[in-house]
Amino acid sequence: MSFTKVVRGGRVVTPDGVINADVGIDGEKIAAVGPNLDAKGAEVIDATGHFVIPGVLDVHVHLELPFCGTTSSDDYRSGTRAGARGGVTTLIDFAIPYAGDSLNDAADNWMKRAEGKALIDYTFHICITRYDEHKDQIAGMVKRGFTTFKEFMIYESEGWQSDDRALYGTLEKMKELGAMLLVHAESSRVLDELIARHHTPELMKQHGATLHAITRPNFIESEAIQRVVTWSEATGGQLYIVHMSTAEGTEIIKSAQARGVPVIAETCVQYLVLDDSVFAQEDGHLYACCPQLKKPSDVARLWKGIKEGTVSVISTDTCTFTREQKAMWEGDWTKIPMGMPGLETLMPLTYTHGVLGGKITIEEMCRKLSTNPAQIMGLYPRKGAIEPGADADLAIIHPTATLKVEPDKMETNADWSPFEGWDLAGFARTTISRGEIIVDNYKVVGREGRGKWLPRTTAGLAHKSRNETQRASAQPVMAQ
Ligand code: URP
Ligand code: ZN
Ligand code: ZN
Repeated sequence: MSFTKVVRGGRVVTPDGVINADVGIDGEKIAAVGPNLDAKGAEVIDATGHFVIPGVLDVHVHLELPFCGTTSSDDYRSGTRAGARGGVTTLIDFAIPYAGDSLNDAADNWMKRAEGKALIDYTFHICITRYDEHKDQIAGMVKRGFTTFKEFMIYESEGWQSDDRALYGTLEKMKELGAMLLVHAESSRVLDELIARHHTPELMKQHGATLHAITRPNFIESEAIQRVVTWSEATGGQLYIVHMSTAEGTEIIKSAQARGVPVIAETCVQYLVLDDSVFAQEDGHLYACCPQLKKPSDVARLWKGIKEGTVSVISTDTCTFTREQKAMWEGDWTKIPMGMPGLETLMPLTYTHGVLGGKITIEEMCRKLSTNPAQIMGLYPRKGAIEPGADADLAIIHPTATLKVEPDKMETNADWSPFEGWDLAGFARTTISRGEIIVDNYKVVGREGRGKWLPRTTAGLAHKSRNETQRASAQPVMAQ
């Protein structure tokens, strides 16, 4: 068998465990994984002393999102370059219909943003913002290759909010079509009431950005998760809770899954490495995201949820704003553009704090960052694992070498970072996307616009077929 490239001598993280092996690439695909592959005529990429892991999928990203009175500052150029540097080879953004837009219009608009700019592969979750208008368009979107949809239980002022009728009806459609609904679960009416009660000049002067946490107690998330889980249980529609941030939410998901409710949970890496003490810092408003960072006890419960399998996916909810954009708050926490940069640091943070921090194994990290998201979002086996036949999407990372997070050296379009000054291992020395080197020696070298849209035919609980627990004995796998 001949290869165009051979990744030589790394510790390869496969679905069956970590093995010492070469990865043979033929064009855009992985052709073989095994020892001493014949590299005659192939470009050899030395991975000695490194892990070779499947390219990361960040399945919760907002690029160029008009939101909170401004537009998030990472576009498809800077955002996908940032992702590549962190070993991300696939992202999923959210196509949101604006005034009068159909679901097809929303998909077209977001496709245009990505085309000609994206360095890595991409697709979109389709947001349902006006249920009565959009409900009969869902089947057509599935036919067009979009199998995941999204509803928000908050954001009335953005025009995005869905009520229980819409959630219930959309989950019925998900059941009918075998598709999956992603939900931002926060309890809007009580949240609005708590915000209104605290929105006084005196309290804003006294508490500053800490009001963001004060007005969002944990029950704001857990009540909403409980409610939408009820609609999933009643309809049988597949549900995916995005950016879960609370211990209570994790418990609800755990018991729902034990009852057989088709619900999957995602958390974001910021909820695993930061807590709400940051709001008391001088620049505390910079950290405002939605939902907000929670308490150390929530952080601990989320890590446990990852380990036990309740939480299947770690993503970023990348929604970058610069210092100038964040300054729009002028002391009023309700005006802070909510979101953070994330794509570039997803894997370094998960690797450094999860794997090197002794919380998860490297196999578990790859499951939460690659295999599970690929399976749940209908992209497996094309994406998500180092297996013959899959796209040759790989990241090569050094096990211990660190880089300091310095905003002016990052690809992401932000002049600050929530992780500024942190020493992180796990940045990609090399990122390979469909057989092409796009990051070399920690620098982006890939061509803008080479990223492709990924059509899908499935979504949801197919990932349950892959055992969540680590398989001990690993054998090299060869293509036929
Ligand atoms: O703060 C965040 N997460 N901004 C993006 C919108 C959302 O709710 O995901
Ligand atoms: Zn959200
Ligand atoms: Zn989001």
